[in-house]
Amino acid sequence: MDVNIRHTTDQDYPALISLYHEVAKISGGIIRTDREIDFDYISMFIENSMKKGLSLAAEIDNRVVGEIHAYTPELYAFRHMLSDLTIVVHPEFQNQGIGKTLFMKFLEIVQKDFLHILRIELYVREENSPIVKFYESLGFINEGRQKNKILNALNELETPLHMAWFNPSFNGISN
Ligand SMILES: CC(C)(COP(=O)(O)OP(=O)(O)OC[C@H]1O[C@@H](n2cnc3c(N)ncnc32)[C@H](O)[C@@H]1OP(=O)(O)O)[C@@H](O)C(=O)NCCC(=O)NCCS
Repeated sequence: MDVNIRHTTDQDYPALISLYHEVAKISGGIIRTDREIDFDYISMFIENSMKKGLSLAAEIDNRVVGEIHAYTPELYAFRHMLSDLTIVVHPEFQNQGIGKTLFMKFLEIVQKDFLHILRIELYVREENSPIVKFYESLGFINEGRQKNKILNALNELETPLHMAWFNPSFNGISN
């Protein structure tokens, strides 16, 4: 199975809306619900990632089967970070190494081209322990629990972990 990793473009909107719908339908994954996946959400993160962050797509036979993105928050004080990192792989293609390939390429590009970025931040559900371990294997550090921050679609409270990765190539100079 040949996986092609490339930068996302604004031509990818329809494929990404469909991909995020497929992933959001399965509970316990991304925090956003299926109802919250729409053109506005996809265009918001693609535009932000193009302007001040990074978004990569994973393709198999020209079909987008995965995506990862993160971007710098608005406040000047946070110009050295990429936050709210989100990664999805289509349910039919999960557990086949695509997420790992996508994430490793993302971190490789940050180390090579994003020297002004020190921190990358994400949230992960505490009970999603295989994924917590996956992020730890990539170098993410558990920065703590945010007790009951999530009230999920079933009205159950959940506790996410805040995790961060530190860029060894950070040079302290912002663009
Ligand atoms: C999380 C996600 C992006 C991982 O992508 P993937 O292609 O399935 O992951 P990979 O096959 O590359 O596996 C990466 C690692 O996680 C582990 N892993 C992934 N899913 C797993 C599962 N359901 N159970 C056990 N281990 C799992 C793999 O064993 C692998 O470990 P390794 O590095 O020791 O080999 C994907 O499962 C997904 O889209 N899930 C739903 C959305 C989601 O949870 N996003 C993250 C929100 S924070």
